[in-house]
Amino acid sequence: TLLIIDFGSQVTQLIARRIREAGVYCEIAPFNAAEEAFERLKPKGIIFSGGPSSVTWEDSPRAPQVLFDSRLPLLGICYGQQTLHQQLGGKVVTSDQKEFGRAFIEVVAPSALFDGLWQVGERHQVWMSHGDRVESLAPGFSIVAASEGAPFAIATDEERRRYSLMFHPEVVHTPDGGKLLANFARHICGCSGEWSMAAYRDQKIADIRAQVGSGRVICGLSGGVDSAVAAVLIHEAIGEQLTCVFVDHGLMRTAEADEVVSLFRGHYNIPLVHVRAEELFLSGLAGLTDPEAKRKFIGKTFIEVFEAEAAKIGGADFLAQGTLYPDVIESVSFTGGPSVTIKSHHNVGGLPERMNMQLVEPLRELFKDEVRELGVELGLPPAFVGRHPFPGPGLAIRIPGEVTREKCDILRKADSIYLEEIRNAGLYDAIWQAFAVLLPVRTVGVMGDARTYDSVCALRAVTSVDGMTADVYPFSAEFLGRTATRIVNEVAGINRVVYDYTSKPPGTIEWE
Ligand code: XMP
Repeated sequence: TLLIIDFGSQVTQLIARRIREAGVYCEIAPFNAAEEAFERLKPKGIIFSGGPSSVTWEDSPRAPQVLFDSRLPLLGICYGQQTLHQQLGGKVVTSDQKEFGRAFIEVVAPSALFDGLWQVGERHQVWMSHGDRVESLAPGFSIVAASEGAPFAIATDEERRRYSLMFHPEVVHTPDGGKLLANFARHICGCSGEWSMAAYRDQKIADIRAQVGSGRVICGLSGGVDSAVAAVLIHEAIGEQLTCVFVDHGLMRTAEADEVVSLFRGHYNIPLVHVRAEELFLSGLAGLTDPEAKRKFIGKTFIEVFEAEAAKIGGADFLAQGTLYPDVIESVSFTGGPSVTIKSHHNVGGLPERMNMQLVEPLRELFKDEVRELGVELGLPPAFVGRHPFPGPGLAIRIPGEVTREKCDILRKADSIYLEEIRNAGLYDAIWQAFAVLLPVRTVGVMGDARTYDSVCALRAVTSVDGMTADVYPFSAEFLGRTATRIVNEVAGINRVVYDYTSKPPGTIEWE
């Protein structure tokens, strides 16, 4: 196991992905909970992530002293490099020469970090993103790779097994970055590289049994893949101690609710309570227009409905949720971490303090594609597991402005035409997520001889590996033309269709 200390970089979790791709288990802990995580995990090595702060600020985050005292191998990335040097007696200054994006470094001395991979004298592409720079290295360190803008691109203390990088090895724009991280995990820290999804599943089943004992668990099904995989996994661990509650907030896509109910009741024979709460959600959403207010209302109401259901079935001790790693990380500021809150994710941010059940979140450490792998491992139908992600707050965050039932119905029609066209074109699996958005804007059109004054529908489709970054899917003009025509012709209330051409960043995938 490796421990990654999070100083708030938006790409910290990519470090974890790369490490797991090397077959090594790892976890991320925010810098201010690092000590506890260190005691619990007993890692073989530690990685310091990047972060948005500057070590030249008085109150910027630091790594706890125990990590240095442990004498374990350390790898500092970007901000992690700077705090590593500063805490070990080096000096960091704010630089006027900021460096962002592609850069080339030259290897000037050998290092265990790139043993068997890079040779002295070679040049390699890396991805820089930094403002500050190390001015004098901590004692024991020397330079092993440099670039013009970054004389300390890689500085290491080979004897103490401490390595520091000014660039980000975890992003794909550092082509050999994954191999550097794998080298650190396996050769330097001595991790075996045998971690796999089957091992994860067995581990989680044991964890769930240990956590739950003879207690009762209720699991919230959202209709999406994540909560379904969580439920099946928990059912495998504790069988009849699990009851699933499907809070149908009325913000699902066409036929989605029925699919979930028949899969669980029919296929798996898992006890399922189907709560029809559309009225409750829609009446509470009336008048709400702010995206965070909508998200928070839905998260809070979801939990309230749960508590009521739990009481009805005679109480449960645990609440299970399909929270994923990206939910945990993007909402890290709620748990005291340093990263900026982009959105209050349904599964984390909306949880009211007063909730009186403990949480079971067996997917908390996994990325989306890992959850799919686990789902297949658990025998879920590949077509179900392969479905595009769907956010907990459902269509509510695809209807900017106020949500009404009428708007939901319009959006559902447009969305299913869009997805039908995507499936017919054989593109469904090439796309990470595709959906329609109903804009709170009306525009003028002409149909037949009559003037129309109706809503605009935006179409979105992105490719992504983990939802953290995303690219626009480049549909052909012909595909977009055909889909737009069908939507305007077949959906009353929409008279104009636009295609969203924004990547993430700077956009997010959902509109709210
Ligand atoms: P964003 O919009 O943040 O979305 O770029 C990244 C991925 O997360 C999904 N998403 C959510 N999933 N609860 C969820 O379970 C939520 O509140 C939520 N908000 C966004 C989104 O659909 C995309 O796949």
